[in-house]
Amino acid sequence: MRIDKYLSKSGYGTRNEVKKIIKAKRVFVNDSLCEKIDMHIDENSDVVYVDDILVEYEEFHYFMFHKPAGYVTTTDLTTDSIMNFIDEPYQDLFACGRLDKDTEGLLLITNDGKLSHALLAPRNHIEKEYIVRCVHELNDEDIYKIENGLIEEGGNTFMPAKIFQSDPLEYHIIICEGKFHEIKRIFLALDNEVTYLKRIRMKNLILDENLALGEYRKLTNDELENLKEVLS
Ligand code: URA
Repeated sequence: MRIDKYLSKSGYGTRNEVKKIIKAKRVFVNDSLCEKIDMHIDENSDVVYVDDILVEYEEFHYFMFHKPAGYVTTTDLTTDSIMNFIDEPYQDLFACGRLDKDTEGLLLITNDGKLSHALLAPRNHIEKEYIVRCVHELNDEDIYKIENGLIEEGGNTFMPAKIFQSDPLEYHIIICEGKFHEIKRIFLALDNEVTYLKRIRMKNLILDENLALGEYRKLTNDELENLKEVLS
């Protein structure tokens, strides 16, 4: 891999910023000064230092983020982008899947496109669990429809979901597909309306109760290993 790409992926800035660091003679590869921005290194065996500090290269990064309502799931750096909360030097992070602006809860932030793709692929039926509050209490017929799949006006279908009540107007709902506004549309199809929505789980990845709204942390090895089962 080129040294500029390697340093950029390790959090030393954009390719242009990294170029400046190399030109300033701050980079050493295996004890020799790096003089070329297009120098090729072996990321598994070469040892790289910037300002005498060992560069610890990790190709992929994985963070659990507790999204607050009022922020958009986008990588654009708008004032209401979730990325305003992610204070990391890596250039290529994105959210795996999206939550509506008014939805809060669990988002996986990563640069691992393959894992993200697999977690979102409908064929993999990855469970996503939400706490949902609504205007009217669901009746038996509503529950039956949610559990057996329902059709909204216009003919769109929703796959069967699991649901259980946690309060008079609050439920846990577990869906395996990720259609646009899926839960709000399911409730609308039942002449109901969602007043609050929070994702608390994706596969076995459970939103950490110690994360306040807007906070994030690295995934543990166990959490990551479990998510990666989807690749096998
Ligand atoms: N379903 C919705 O309606 N909105 C979300 O943000 C997620 C699932």
